[in-house]
Amino acid sequence: MLAVADVAMNGKSFHIITFGCQMNANDSWWLASSLAERGFTRTGLEDARVVVLNTCSVREKPERKVAAALAEVRRVTGGDPGVLVVVAGCVAQQMGEKLFSPESQVRLLVGSDGLARAPEAIERLLAEPQERCCLLDFSVGYEERKAVRAAAGPVAQVNIIQGCDNFCAYCIVPFTRGRQKSRRAEDILEECRARLDGGAREILLLGQNVNAYNRDRQGDGTSFASLLERVATLPGLVRLRYVTAHPRDMRPEDVAAFGNVPALCPRLHLPLQSGSDNVLKRMGRKYDSRTFLDLARRLREARPDMALSTDIIAGFPGESEKDFEDTLAIMETCEFVSSFSFCYSDRPGTRAALMPDKTAPTVSLERLSRLQALQDALTRRLLADRVGRKTDILIEGRSRRQPPGKTSWRGRDPYGVVVNLVLEGQGDYTGKMAPVLITRAKRHSLAAEPAGDMW
Ligand code: 5AD
Ligand code: SF4
Repeated sequence: MLAVADVAMNGKSFHIITFGCQMNANDSWWLASSLAERGFTRTGLEDARVVVLNTCSVREKPERKVAAALAEVRRVTGGDPGVLVVVAGCVAQQMGEKLFSPESQVRLLVGSDGLARAPEAIERLLAEPQERCCLLDFSVGYEERKAVRAAAGPVAQVNIIQGCDNFCAYCIVPFTRGRQKSRRAEDILEECRARLDGGAREILLLGQNVNAYNRDRQGDGTSFASLLERVATLPGLVRLRYVTAHPRDMRPEDVAAFGNVPALCPRLHLPLQSGSDNVLKRMGRKYDSRTFLDLARRLREARPDMALSTDIIAGFPGESEKDFEDTLAIMETCEFVSSFSFCYSDRPGTRAALMPDKTAPTVSLERLSRLQALQDALTRRLLADRVGRKTDILIEGRSRRQPPGKTSWRGRDPYGVVVNLVLEGQGDYTGKMAPVLITRAKRHSLAAEPAGDMW
């Protein structure tokens, strides 16, 4: 470990601020690991020569947070031109060179396909303080990144596809992350093997629309279901999950996998967006409420204990009270264990931004709070149901709060719910599978006690 003084001497210090989805979190992890391999040290914002903002513009709120973060970086660094500020992710892609204002500290812009070349560009720009650089071009195929050796805990997130071709009416992702590009199955398997060798026990396959895997011209033809089977048989793998699935792209074999791939966890994030057929049609989601309900039923036929979660948008243009009530009804029928819900916001360049009949913000907010109240009640009921049952958790690390004289550990059950487990021992249990008995349901998590030997 370098002392702060040494860091200042060689100038190779960095700080990363991440907004947005799991893909962004994983991109930041890769960038941090690559910089560390090049001799950089991670520091606080005050001491960093390189500050990276990995940004999200999927909704208005995260985008506003990026502007606030840039102002904060300027305040903390006193606008020092010696500090290299990098803007990566969707906001870089969307705003482009506008981020290079004359007094701006931003000298590097990195889009999702440019990340592979970012570490090299950072080193070059540190050596050439007058230069600026844009890595915003979209590539035709999946841009492979150099493998990193850094350990990343028991859950390994592995990208399988970049971009999205769905062009849902409200969504900026196809514009900021570009067209869909599948990664070669061999490259995915190689990364999975390396991560399992490095101690991971669970693999989370990532992509904006994972089950459209290889339905583009770039991939190698392996279907999503056969990719799952191949990953599931890798030595050392205990659990497999994926996120995010598009309801329209769930093929029968993807549904069947929940019944016949034992490592595949019984949890699926399946964004519904709206329960109204009118709204779904205008959103361009290409399914209706009946097909969504049928899919949920088939998933539970394949795996009766299947837990579903979802994303919902409140106040899409033209959404009536009746449309919204249809959404509430379907949420109850599907019994989602959790949901992310958002007020609709206009995103530049999307079809929905041009639609008339925008919902008033007060109406959207009121609907959002009704949605969230319903979800809280559903979550409470489903979690309360789990009390008294035995399950296994994969311990991901220490809990935020520690009890006196004991240690508390945070893991997830097969349904993806966070479970806290208090143990007498003082060892490190990260990465262990622990049989537990659920003793208590909290608002969004469960508490448990040990119920067998860890492995
Ligand atoms: N307004 C509100 N929510 C949005 N989402 C995507 N675009 C918008 C928008 N313009 C939500 C969707 C998506 C999640 C990642 O963000 O629910 O599934
Ligand atoms: Fe956006 Fe729709 Fe693609 Fe999801 S499927 S990333 S909502 S365009």
